[in-house]
Amino acid sequence: MAKFIVTKSGPLKGKVAINGAKNSVLPIMAASLLSDGFSTLEDVPRLEDVHVMCRLLEYFGSRLKWNNKTLSIDNSQIRPAPAPYDLVRKMRASFLVMGPILSRFGNVKISLPGGCAIGTRPIDLHLKGLAAMGADITLGHGYIEAKADKLIGDRIYLDFPSVGATENLIMAAALAEGMTIIENAAEEPEIIDLANFINSMGGNVKGAGTDTIKIEGVEELSGCTHTIIPDRIEAGTFMTAAAITGGDIILTNVIIDHIRPVEAKLKEAGIQVEPVEEGIRVYKNGPLNTLDLKTLPYPGFPTDMQPQMMAFMCTLPGTSMITETVFENRFMHVSELKRLGARIKIEGRSAIIEGVERLQGTQVKATDLRAGAALLLAGLYAEGTTEVLDIYHIERGYEGIDEKLRSLGANIKRVN
Ligand code: UD1
Repeated sequence: MAKFIVTKSGPLKGKVAINGAKNSVLPIMAASLLSDGFSTLEDVPRLEDVHVMCRLLEYFGSRLKWNNKTLSIDNSQIRPAPAPYDLVRKMRASFLVMGPILSRFGNVKISLPGGCAIGTRPIDLHLKGLAAMGADITLGHGYIEAKADKLIGDRIYLDFPSVGATENLIMAAALAEGMTIIENAAEEPEIIDLANFINSMGGNVKGAGTDTIKIEGVEELSGCTHTIIPDRIEAGTFMTAAAITGGDIILTNVIIDHIRPVEAKLKEAGIQVEPVEEGIRVYKNGPLNTLDLKTLPYPGFPTDMQPQMMAFMCTLPGTSMITETVFENRFMHVSELKRLGARIKIEGRSAIIEGVERLQGTQVKATDLRAGAALLLAGLYAEGTTEVLDIYHIERGYEGIDEKLRSLGANIKRVN
């Protein structure tokens, strides 16, 4: 099994280019299924999650071709087929094919995402929305089946601004009859990217990026060419890597507006973040302060940056606090950070972090994607050597993170 070996590193220095966003490309690849045309996606990160989505599209009959970071999708031969557990269990985002396949073919059968109880989270909002549009949904033998001769637009209020449910419903509504209005919709930049893609295909999606999205269904959509937005979480991770090592780096290919919440918290801690011609510069210049933060749907602080920020907070002088409001159980990295000497106490949905002068390297394991990233950051700060195991989680969402960190002067290597 591959692992990362990280040794305490000095201040990171240099320039790093951010990839296209994982959380944009996955729904956009699913949305390509809305048409029988030919779509070209540019700036696609070569990630394990993207490869899983490729396999799922191929399963439906898409023909894919890579050219560096450009992915061409030929959907002239697609047909609905039951999406198997083998692919769906690997990645929850597989569920995003439900909306487009149902809308285009009138029926879809997809394995329940692993570990999920129907009727409660995490797909009840997707299903309630599709049902409101007239889908007949049944469950049996571990599969969900949805049927509708023609989906009909409706007014849908989401109890929580779920990113995945908003995306699935936009895609379903794109070919539905009449107008769908999604209220309390997620406002993430990736939703805007998806809407832009569908509009380039000939769709009519308005209001993406606000809490009310209106989709006027169209008869058919065609393929198009689209460039994926930069990954704000990869950017935030590198910003935090600069912060934890007291470095001075420049990130290129970033949209500064998308990283405002991370920028605000780093600045509050005493890290400088400033726009420069090529992107943004992040550097330490003076003493650091403790931080309190609460994760929230966009434009609040992203839950996907919570573990990395926690690693940084472990190094701040005094007591910091994180309250996680988006996911119920997203503190799995705490026990691993504690193995490195961090002092963290969990009280309900909050973690109280007592800064320590030193962390000490040891063997830890990535329990999920962002938890793994947090351990790499902590490893850069910890004395001695930190071995991070189960790095397949990290490689689901970061392309060549070891190479990129090394190019900034970090002591990290990947060994098999
Ligand atoms: C997406 C991101 C993920 C990020 C998350 C929150 C992708 C591929 N993944 O995941 O990286 O951490 O947004 O920013 O874009 N919920 C329900 N019922 C539902 C759906 C969700 O209760 O039907 C709950 C979830 O359990 C969770 C919260 O809503 O507590 C947020 O989930 P959601 O926004 O749907 O996250 P994902 O789209 O799965």
